[in-house]
Amino acid sequence: SRLGRLPGRQDWSSWPHYQAAAAGFRGYWYPVAYGSHIGGKPKQITLLGEKIVLIRDGGRHGTVYALKDRCPHRGVPLSEGNQQFPGTISCPYHGWTFDLASGDLKAAITDGPKSPICGKVTQPTYEVAERLGLVWVFVGDGEEAPPIDEHLPEELVSNAAVLGSRIQPRQGNWRFACENGYDEGHAKYLHRTSLWRMFKSMPVWNETRIVQRGRWIFRVQDKQYWDADFPGLGPWNNQAWYKLKPPKEVTNIGNTGGHREVDPVIAAQEFPGFASVSMPGMLRIAYPTFIHYEFYVPVDADNHLYVGVMAEFRKGRKVLPFYAKYLGFIRWLFHGEFSAQDKWMVEVTDAPPEKLYRPDDSLLKWRKLAEDVTEERVARLAGQGIQPAAAKD
Ligand code: FES
Repeated sequence: SRLGRLPGRQDWSSWPHYQAAAAGFRGYWYPVAYGSHIGGKPKQITLLGEKIVLIRDGGRHGTVYALKDRCPHRGVPLSEGNQQFPGTISCPYHGWTFDLASGDLKAAITDGPKSPICGKVTQPTYEVAERLGLVWVFVGDGEEAPPIDEHLPEELVSNAAVLGSRIQPRQGNWRFACENGYDEGHAKYLHRTSLWRMFKSMPVWNETRIVQRGRWIFRVQDKQYWDADFPGLGPWNNQAWYKLKPPKEVTNIGNTGGHREVDPVIAAQEFPGFASVSMPGMLRIAYPTFIHYEFYVPVDADNHLYVGVMAEFRKGRKVLPFYAKYLGFIRWLFHGEFSAQDKWMVEVTDAPPEKLYRPDDSLLKWRKLAEDVTEERVARLAGQGIQPAAAKD
């Protein structure tokens, strides 16, 4: 492993909930797979350290179900089994057969139709939803799952959008991935060499503030500095002759030159800043004509799933040029090479200990958000008599 650290054991004791969430925060919906990749053949995933089996019942347009992927009989993964009766999944070993919706043991095939164990065993199940072409699973502590639309970015729920997405299993703790995504400084420096940035000018640094609106915190750019003179070192900038000219004004949408007309759906959001983050590790970068989202899905303390989604608010025949552009260009440059730089940094980050500087205010505000929102959840669950599970790692 390139991870030169004790995985998932970061000492972030100023943020106890955040520290405890090495394997993720419970109480959220997480995207785990493309909908088109889940069919009648069971598939195992790991989410927040839990092994889960996914299966689609009723053909291509059927419903996806999720159950704990461990047969209670002798501990064999149900994902090694298959479907013998509609609406069920059977363990490959002795044929215990569970109802997909309720988890109830409907038959123990090798004990005959009158097996007395039926009705006495229930397999834990998970709520599943399909949105944005992805399968989402809710991992909680026994509370009722909130409607998934409450967890998705609002603009994706209320507007028609055409989407391109990429799912990639990656090494490293999900918190490093999320902090990297929202990290102010890396956008200016790490990504300066990416192909995506070849024609885009970037400031050397910005004056910024983090402001909260609803469940999101935004990075507001108050001033951009396109050139800097470093005492004793000399001038430095991010420009090259082939890069587009810097915009005349400070822009809080995109960072791409300010020469494009802003899409009306994006304009209507009136985002205070172009980069925003929300629980449980969801990043939104608003550009003038599209929005890029990243979901950092905790697999366990050492691994996460990178889910990148690109959305343009188009419908009807206008969606075709988007797919051409996405498949031919954006998928490789943005979701590919650019994002590979992030992957690289997440693999080699080794903090804490850490010595933070001014642009890391973005990281601190994100940790604070995670802490506050989790504190609220703990109190809410206590009101329902639910004690949240201890973090697994
Ligand atoms: Fe699953 Fe025996 S281990 S049926």
